[in-house]
Amino acid sequence: MKGRAEVIVGAQWGDEGKGRIVDALASRVDVVVRYQGGANAGHTVIVDGEEYIFHLLPSGMLYSGKACVIGNGVVVDPQQLIDELTDLQTRGKDRARLVVSGSAHVVMPYHKVLDGMEERFRGAGKRIGTTRRGIGPCYVDKVNRSGIRMEDLLNEEVLREKITFNLEVKNMILTRVYGEDPLAFGTIFEQAREWGEKLAPYVGDASLTIWKSMESGGRVLLEGAQGTLLDVDHGTYPYVTSSNPTAGGACVGAGVGPSTVDRITGVVKAYCTRVGEGSFPTEEEGDLGDRLRDKGHEFGATTGRPRRCGWLDMVALRYAVRVSGITALALTKLDILTGIESIPVCMEYLAEGAKLQDFSGNLRVLENVKPHYTHLEGWKEDISECRSLEDLPKAARDYISFIEKHTGVPVVLVGVGPGREQTIVNGL
Ligand code: IMP
Repeated sequence: MKGRAEVIVGAQWGDEGKGRIVDALASRVDVVVRYQGGANAGHTVIVDGEEYIFHLLPSGMLYSGKACVIGNGVVVDPQQLIDELTDLQTRGKDRARLVVSGSAHVVMPYHKVLDGMEERFRGAGKRIGTTRRGIGPCYVDKVNRSGIRMEDLLNEEVLREKITFNLEVKNMILTRVYGEDPLAFGTIFEQAREWGEKLAPYVGDASLTIWKSMESGGRVLLEGAQGTLLDVDHGTYPYVTSSNPTAGGACVGAGVGPSTVDRITGVVKAYCTRVGEGSFPTEEEGDLGDRLRDKGHEFGATTGRPRRCGWLDMVALRYAVRVSGITALALTKLDILTGIESIPVCMEYLAEGAKLQDFSGNLRVLENVKPHYTHLEGWKEDISECRSLEDLPKAARDYISFIEKHTGVPVVLVGVGPGREQTIVNGL
């Protein structure tokens, strides 16, 4: 095998700016693959002052001559996918060739309804704060072996049978458990058939597409959505998403073997954010938190919700490095810290007098920890025009070195602004 794969993972709670890092790296690869999650993600890429937000399409779609793949691990909202493709076509930017895995599961209308119902049923205090895109219920059906896959949209008989079976069960839940009206078969079936017709040219064997590219020496980029701490196994369960954003999930969700992966880049924001409920030890609820939110435009790309903001958490970052085997870091939004005189960075947690160096996904532990901060010197200079590490003020360089020293991982990319060109490349 001549070709190789690399993985991009979020090292925090998602929204680390993976889209712009994938966009930066996409020019160097042949195939870009989404491997998990669904339209709950929102990857923003800004090119020539124009903004593109991808919820489902891989962030490599703006490059011509590439193949973009939606892997089996993704849950696909077909209408969202059609809308994104249409938008790119209208803007004349549908440059890459798209392959959607026939084994990827379809988010059906009832999944979205159930997502909302389940959240309502959990109520205040227990609510997860999902994006209500039907992600959890769709993965439930996948694991329960009753889900509908992209390939099923292309076979009317199978589709009819599967929707009939699923609706029978879902309608019982909707009417008898939640007291809602049942959903009509006809509308859903017709809609699904139409999705199949429109998406048929794209449905194929994703794993084979990737393999063939690597066989002929191609380089493949596996693009994660969400982040390590939202991983259903390794995150802050139950306040997580329903897939595996960590690097292990990349192999399963794309259909490639681990031995093909030669680099795992963790994307880490220079501070921390979280949307939805759940523990967030370094959350900053005061004015400084508002300042990070305003300056960093920290509002969800999918739901528009204000993101909770706080400081860089090295305990969590070291954990992300461990569970994904991260070999390189991409630091984003360093420019947002400009002007903060003294920057808090959490080095360890304090819990009932004890010091915790290792992150725990156990909520009983995590809810009771306090962050122990080291303060790093800030900088005042505008760094948005810096294009090399040497251009940065010493304090900003020290911030980067500090992260490298305490994770043992080199920082190879630094984002100093939202534009494609505002990326410092260091030793890639
Ligand atoms: P779900 O993925 O919609 O089920 O939401 C589960 C949790 O993951 C919620 O806390 C969401 O806010 C969070 N989440 C899902 N997708 C993203 C994302 O792309 N960025 C940040 N948080 C996300």
